[in-house]
Amino acid sequence: MLKPDGRPQVDLDRCTQCGRCAAVCSLDVLEMGETGPVASGVAPCFRCGHCVAVCPSGAISHAGMNPEHFRELLPWEEGVTPELLLDLLRKRRSIRSYTDEQVTEEEIMRLIEAAVQAPSGLNAQSWHFTIIQDPERLGKIRRRTLAIYSMLLKMLDSRVSRLMLRMQVGAEALEVLAEARPLLEGILDAQKTGGDRLLWGAPTLVIVHSPDEDPTGPESAHYAVGNFMLMATTMGLGTCVIGFVSAIAERDGRMREFIGLPEDHTLAAVLVVGHPSEEYLRSVDKRAAAINFV
Ligand SMILES: Cc1cc2nc3c(=O)[nH]c(=O)nc-3n(C[C@H](O)[C@H](O)[C@H](O)COP(=O)(O)O)c2cc1C
Ligand code: SF4
Ligand code: SF4
Repeated sequence: MLKPDGRPQVDLDRCTQCGRCAAVCSLDVLEMGETGPVASGVAPCFRCGHCVAVCPSGAISHAGMNPEHFRELLPWEEGVTPELLLDLLRKRRSIRSYTDEQVTEEEIMRLIEAAVQAPSGLNAQSWHFTIIQDPERLGKIRRRTLAIYSMLLKMLDSRVSRLMLRMQVGAEALEVLAEARPLLEGILDAQKTGGDRLLWGAPTLVIVHSPDEDPTGPESAHYAVGNFMLMATTMGLGTCVIGFVSAIAERDGRMREFIGLPEDHTLAAVLVVGHPSEEYLRSVDKRAAAINFV
């Protein structure tokens, strides 16, 4: 990751010297020479692919990038209108009711293909996706998460253990826990009668993580998750981010093991995916954003 890799090659027979590749190369790897673009020997190339994607005569290739991944885009007149895109954004909901139908491997691959189109810091694309579909493992994750929350809520009730907890997790995390108490109690009560208000009965759990060595990894992964969720919506699938699992997995070694999170990785997001059992007929009320023009 973050490894500059190789140099673009220019086929001068095809090059019309339009200069577009050099113009889009924000790292100044490419400069226009007398007969066409030349790659400087100094600046690192981060394989963003912009030079290949912009060249009208297909004169650029790059050994570090798969030529098959440079796909022709749909003619824009047939593309997504702002109205349609806004409708898709409005249509995405956090889905909390799923059928038993499993998400296929093909569907997962499609969702990830959409996810990885996201921007990433230094084009590191360091996101990892761990897919969990084994009901036994999902059960372990659910039980472990709820056992820890049950213990934490008990600790809130005693002055001494609350103080101890505060020293361990900090005042802020303690406040969040106290605020989430009614929700957590609802999740724990549901579990007693076989209900699943943690993973919402979804058949697939997706863990998104990135190596610690990439400081922008988690932020980049969040953008990828946004793409994933929107793609799921277009495919008739539902998703829901499960922050209650992330909060435990960030701190608990056994949970890290259950969700397959490597030691040197940071968790970015946990989400469920499945076939929604309800269809929403209209969008919801999103509050007006706080906007400052300064
Ligand atoms: C960081 C984050 C954590 C979340 N954690 C949970 C969760 O643990 N359980 C859940 O049911 N929904 C969770 N959600 C979903 C939010 O509750 C949901 O996005 C919000 O209520 C708005 O609803 P909408 O997504 O349908 O627009 C989470 C969302 C985010 C962004
Ligand atoms: S891949 Fe990106 S950084 Fe590398 S030469 Fe092309 S435009 Fe420049
Ligand atoms: S964009 Fe293509 S045609 Fe234009 S200068 Fe670069 S290599 Fe040549």
